[in-house]
Amino acid sequence: MNDLTQLPEWKKLESHHERVRGNSICNMFDEDPGRIKYLCLEAGNIFLDYSKNLLDSAIMAELVNLARTCQVPQNISAMFTGQKINFTENRPALHIALRAPSNETIQAEGHNIIDDVHHVLHKMEHFVNSIETGHWTGFTGERITDIVNIGIGGSDLGPVMAVEALKPYHSTKIRSHFVSNVDACQLLDILSNLDPSKTLFIIASKTFTTQETLANAHSARDWFLKTGNKKNIAQHFVAVSTNAEAVSAFGINTDNMFEFWDWVGGRYSLWSAIGLSIALAVGMSNFRAMLKGAHNLDVHFRTASLESNLPVILALVGIWNCNFLGAENIAVLPYSEHLSHLPAYLQQLEMESNGKRTKQTGEYVNYNTCPIIWGQAGTNGQHAFYQLIHQGTRFTPADFILVARAPHTLEKHQDMLVANGIAQTEALMRGRTLQEAQTLMLKEGLDPKEAERLAPHRTFPGNHPTNTLFLPELTPEILGELIATYEHKVFVQGIIWGINSFDQWGVELGKKLAGQILSDISSQNTKNHDPSTSSLISRYLKLRN
Ligand code: F6P
Repeated sequence: MNDLTQLPEWKKLESHHERVRGNSICNMFDEDPGRIKYLCLEAGNIFLDYSKNLLDSAIMAELVNLARTCQVPQNISAMFTGQKINFTENRPALHIALRAPSNETIQAEGHNIIDDVHHVLHKMEHFVNSIETGHWTGFTGERITDIVNIGIGGSDLGPVMAVEALKPYHSTKIRSHFVSNVDACQLLDILSNLDPSKTLFIIASKTFTTQETLANAHSARDWFLKTGNKKNIAQHFVAVSTNAEAVSAFGINTDNMFEFWDWVGGRYSLWSAIGLSIALAVGMSNFRAMLKGAHNLDVHFRTASLESNLPVILALVGIWNCNFLGAENIAVLPYSEHLSHLPAYLQQLEMESNGKRTKQTGEYVNYNTCPIIWGQAGTNGQHAFYQLIHQGTRFTPADFILVARAPHTLEKHQDMLVANGIAQTEALMRGRTLQEAQTLMLKEGLDPKEAERLAPHRTFPGNHPTNTLFLPELTPEILGELIATYEHKVFVQGIIWGINSFDQWGVELGKKLAGQILSDISSQNTKNHDPSTSSLISRYLKLRN
């Protein structure tokens, strides 16, 4: 592909930027109140309002042209037909196959992988049912009451996020726990409340070589063996992995292993058996409903025109905000306590996927790629960092995620929650002029001189772009739609930026050096590093005892 920034569509978008540079979103609404009709769209259960962005129909049309020139439609089709779009690892990226119905066919590795997917789903179903009914027991014959998922990154963040999001659907018989950090405080805190005879560990690791996961898994097994014996491990440890050999070397019978495949990226794996902890928490029918929601969104993504395609539009608005308006970061602000883990989940999805600088040609990009993704559930963030978004010097576009129906009956709370979310999108766009600030203070009874002095402090520049994603409620199906939307948004942005969204070589170096330093610590060798690193190792050796 040609240099992105030299494409005629890119140049035209730069001219559009010049045209709208001094304008404001409010002004665009004054000039064209009808923009709300065409700068929004609906896909499945998700309504997206992107009218509170500094763009208009001409800009959207040019962004769509850019997507076409960058071959977004061809790449979507390459993904769905199992081509090796992960071009540095020579693999397809087929998470869409994990949620496809059993009558579909997707060929990879010389056969229809949908059969493999449904075979594992059946195995999961059988297992979940046997835990639910009490057919599968612990070694004393008692029911399993606690599930501990041990995994990190994609083998943790998706399941944690979904289990929290679907709290109202939890089985009352099972408690879910997640251990990811190699800091043993997390593991020990959780174990301190558990009874080994009623606890089941899921060791979730695509590679089954991840240092943190293996350390936690070994310590969990040691803890278990203080009460149970080796023979009992089969009832208390199962694995989710692509690496049967390592699973068996750990001591888990491969009959108790749930398989997935190389063509599932870690951060795209919650739909696979990595979602076992989700299925155990909410039941297999709810897990399947989540898959169905994601599949509905896949069908939309594959068949809708670029102009009415939810993930494509989200991706293009993001490109406008980052590459033309200069945003370095995007806040994700879910107004739902149950979506409190969504920002952390999206951090991995977006930043591990598109935090790259090398194009397929091996050249480096000369434009920005993935912005920094951060956020927190509203309304808590309003009392913490929103100050900076409203009045600071940084430019922070935001995605607001609102959920209309609450899973409880305290309607007043729900009205307050949603009112706050909507109000923030209005305040961020509108801001407050100096004149308005002064008038307000005079109304409050302030002396005119004092009002004049304080007015600059109480002014808001406004003109902050926001997207609002409105969901009717947070069901398993709608959660599936929401996550698939973001997955495909990330893919589309990766295509336009010309990078591979499906590898993660950037995490290698740190892992390798951690291994070296660990061995230097055990041999008390401080000589192999630069002066700062060596002195930090020495300090640790001195302080640790
Ligand atoms: O951090 C790198 C990474 O490879 C992620 O992509 C992955 O989700 C995580 O580590 C865990 O890997 P695994 O499932 O193989 O233990």
